[in-house]
Amino acid sequence: MTPNHTLGTGQADMDAEHKVQIGLILALEQSLQRGRGRGDITDILSQLVEYTNIHFMSEQLLMRLHAYPDIGAHEMEHDHLIEQLRRVEDGVGASDSEMTVTEIGMLKRLVIDHIKTHDHVFSQYLTGTDDVPARLP
Ligand SMILES: [Fe+2]
Ligand SMILES: [Fe+2]
Repeated sequence: MTPNHTLGTGQADMDAEHKVQIGLILALEQSLQRGRGRGDITDILSQLVEYTNIHFMSEQLLMRLHAYPDIGAHEMEHDHLIEQLRRVEDGVGASDSEMTVTEIGMLKRLVIDHIKTHDHVFSQYLTGTDDVPARLP
């Protein structure tokens, strides 16, 4: 798999969703580093959890619509990212800011890596299939 060096996949809808997803991760990281209140942190965390689930479901739906052959491996990657997100939730739940900062840093690296590899390859596949529209109606 050839990695892409930027976060842009070439699919506008997917890129917009990644921008929000990464934006929420960065917002959570900054809130922790700046010692913001627990309410702010749990608010951003619940938005991140909700948005990540919606984004992964939307990608997986697109994969099914387009009969994407590598869907199994891609879904497994999403599951691993959700597991990492749970480690962040565990850190927040335990009020352990050191653990949470470590786990959110790991989540950020894994998500960026996922976008540059798996999402990039899926996007290239979508560009190559012009018999089915690349966007949901
Ligand atoms: Fe994605
Ligand atoms: Fe993905």
